[in-house]
Amino acid sequence: MIDYHVAIRGALFDIAQVCDNADDIALNARFIEDGLLFIRDGKIQARMAWQEGEQHLDAQKGYTDRRGKLLMPGFIDAHVHYPQTEMIGAFGEQLLEWLTTYTFPVESQFADEAYAAEIARFFIGQLLSHGTTTAMVFCTLHPESVNALFSEALRLNMRLIAGKVMMDRHAPDYLSETAEESYRQTRELIQRWQHQGRLGYALTPRFAPTSTPELLDAVRRLREEFPQTWLQTHLSENPNEVAWVNDLWPEHARYLDVYHHYGLTGEGSVFAHGIHLHDEEWQCLHDTGSAVAFCPTSNLFLGSGLFRLPASWQYKVRMGIGTDVGAGTTFSMLRTLGEAYKVGQLQSYRLRASEAFYHATLGGAHALRLDDKIGNFAVGKEADFVVIDPAVTPLQRLRNERSKDIYEQLFVLMTLGDERNISETWINGQCAWGNEAAQ
Ligand code: GUN
Ligand code: ZN
Repeated sequence: MIDYHVAIRGALFDIAQVCDNADDIALNARFIEDGLLFIRDGKIQARMAWQEGEQHLDAQKGYTDRRGKLLMPGFIDAHVHYPQTEMIGAFGEQLLEWLTTYTFPVESQFADEAYAAEIARFFIGQLLSHGTTTAMVFCTLHPESVNALFSEALRLNMRLIAGKVMMDRHAPDYLSETAEESYRQTRELIQRWQHQGRLGYALTPRFAPTSTPELLDAVRRLREEFPQTWLQTHLSENPNEVAWVNDLWPEHARYLDVYHHYGLTGEGSVFAHGIHLHDEEWQCLHDTGSAVAFCPTSNLFLGSGLFRLPASWQYKVRMGIGTDVGAGTTFSMLRTLGEAYKVGQLQSYRLRASEAFYHATLGGAHALRLDDKIGNFAVGKEADFVVIDPAVTPLQRLRNERSKDIYEQLFVLMTLGDERNISETWINGQCAWGNEAAQ
């Protein structure tokens, strides 16, 4: 008998290991049509077929029956801005005008911790109801915004990475700071939050145009002092932005060189977008073990361009998928995968379901340097997972009944699916959202 806390029965899908090409993913995909997951102390203790697992059940403890549902590792959103939740769907502008017209005024509200706490609670509720169990999150310039988000994530014991935005030029006065203030406040936040529960701190210079050399130097110092922190920023999203970076930093040949010069590349560094990269920038991302976050709904919504998914494989660059709310238009990783497929189609790249769900789970974990903790059902990993109902609408049911195998079902799920398909979200071995959630 296995000494478990929770056993849950349903179809199980995950990817066995980190892969460096799409064919390998298909080979490493594991599907158990009738499976049993044993959980103890918030971790995966065993994963097996029902016939094998049944004998290990304890008659007293029993098991949670989710037959007909699909259990998958929780989704990982590699790039999202929680303060932008309320401005999702802002009309008409591309990146730079969108920032000044909509984003900065909205972000100014987060100096108020009570306001920040209200939005943080709403945001985390959105993550959970959409099946996202881990995210790498931008806060605002204000330490209050970080405190509010981390407090809520800690309450739910989520594995979440976030950080205070750092910016000391080309921002409105009400949203600007000096490099030294930014250094000091960030340092305090790291000391307060890094490694509390399952939280992680990400150094968060917004992007090169809002950073002076002094600011990036302060980020470098923090990275040296706290090598266990993560780093998140934006890179090569929009042609006007790239041109601006070239003007502001003429001594660096390419956009990524600016970050690389300040020691900001490396494992645990996640660069959002990376749409207009040159080959040597891809190579640098590879050489340093840096990751990119592909944010299809945002890239389409802001008209930023088409991320070159094939290039990320060619250069073997770690990649995660981000919603990038509020430039992105949904919290749903299912919808985001559907849009990623379309971005692939425009470049004659076929994003298979196995690959798409890899990016949303184990691949995202690898991008965030978390693949030893989350991303699949390997024994010892943290039990963060989603219970999915593959068919909740008449159209989904009709289409699903005609699917020949799990891969077709998954592809239909990423094409037609959204938050309605998420029936439960489990965090650390407990149902945090859905039918059984305690809260
Ligand atoms: N570049 C700098 N800041 C932002 C932001 O908030 N959103 C997006 N999409 N790109 C950015
Ligand atoms: Zn962003």
